[in-house]
Amino acid sequence: MILIYLGCTAIAAFALALVLGLTGAAPAAVAHAAFAIGALPLIFAAMSHFVPVLTRSGGAEPGVHRLPLVLQAAGVVAVAVLAGWGPGWLLHGALVAGLGATGAFLAWAIRRGRASLGKPHPGLAWYLAALGCLGLALVAIFAGLLWPAGYGALRLVHLHLNTLGFIGLTAIGTLHVLMPTVLGKPDPQAAPRLRRQLPWALGGVASAALAGVLPWLSVPAVLIIGGVLVHTLWCWWRSWGAATLFGDGASASLFGAGLGLLAVVLAGGAHGLGWLPGRPAVGGFFMLFLLPLVSGALAQLLPVWRFPGPMSPARAAMRARLVRFGALRAVLFLAGGGLTMAGFEAALALPAAGVLMFGVALVVALAGGGAGRA
Ligand code: HEM
Ligand code: HEM
Repeated sequence: MILIYLGCTAIAAFALALVLGLTGAAPAAVAHAAFAIGALPLIFAAMSHFVPVLTRSGGAEPGVHRLPLVLQAAGVVAVAVLAGWGPGWLLHGALVAGLGATGAFLAWAIRRGRASLGKPHPGLAWYLAALGCLGLALVAIFAGLLWPAGYGALRLVHLHLNTLGFIGLTAIGTLHVLMPTVLGKPDPQAAPRLRRQLPWALGGVASAALAGVLPWLSVPAVLIIGGVLVHTLWCWWRSWGAATLFGDGASASLFGAGLGLLAVVLAGGAHGLGWLPGRPAVGGFFMLFLLPLVSGALAQLLPVWRFPGPMSPARAAMRARLVRFGALRAVLFLAGGGLTMAGFEAALALPAAGVLMFGVALVVALAGGGAGRA
């Protein structure tokens, strides 16, 4: 139930971010509505689903399922403070709670890795790296709040470690496992590819995080992260082809998310070298990457969370409802995000329409699924 709740609140948080953005709230409040209330707890929920799969162990304990709720509460507090609705010291509380929950979750994932039946799948190392990035990002902004002279640089460390490190590494690690599941076709190259790519990806993320202090690091950051993405997208294209990838709403959306992240990384290189302003990349990351990623992943995962166990007609019906129009939604997110980044504010209506479409599909699917079960 908690997983389904977090899936639904992520979509609600994305809608909140779009509304806050349209009503002119502080940019940091808008960003944290999407990232800290929506994506952060949902990522923990997805990890609590995948860590047992990657380590061939039993389902996550109830206590682990509750940790995302702590993070979501921290996210709500962060948005309230950044929007100017609460005193600044509350941020410290949110950071302590966030760090505690991240540490507890990381310890659980490491324990599961040690207890794994055989060697854990290399996707687990991506999750540990992503959680490490989140912990460091929270420590960085905490240090920045306590040490005003370093605030500027530490804020850049915080935001790049969180977006490219925490969300980016989780996404790439998960997509290697999720894409073959979505398509129902095995990918024997996924595990070796993940093993080979991780040191590179970490180097790229570290370069981007430190590029705020040493701008030339933007060049290796773009080449390495961009290289990992191109390699992954190319391998999928070669293995399955366009007809398969775009033939299913979930895989079309996930492939679109990969392309979107590549575009945002290229834009990141441009702002890192001072050719573009950095701020539009936050909206770009949200619209070009996070929206197609989360809607595509939820279309695949929510039916499994709602109807666990072996495949059933009710699960297949719910999935069919959610993947319908998946390719169209991906086009709305990518086109709207691209145009908004290029300065056409009115194009925000396109991703807003995509979120609304997915929200309606979600309500219909959950209501219909309930009726099917009864
Ligand atoms: C609950 C945990 C979090 C807290 C308390 C927090 C706190 C902060 C603070 C204080 C700032 C500086 C705001 C400013 O200078 O105006 C900031 C910036 C930022 N943070 Fe976080 N953060 C958290 C989680 C996250 C997560 C999970 C992400 C993304 C995955 C994220 C992404 C960003 C971004 C993109 C910015 C720059 C926003 C902008 O100026 O447009 N943060 N954060
Ligand atoms: C490989 C990719 C990236 C590299 C190399 C990079 C590099 C940099 C560098 C060097 C700066 C400092 C520029 C300055 O202070 O003038 C910066 C600022 C910034 N970057 Fe990135 N970045 C990347 C990706 C991203 C992504 C994905 C986001 C989206 C969340 C992002 C959001 C920002 C923001 C909001 C700023 C600060 C703008 C400001 O408030 O002045 N960057 N980036």
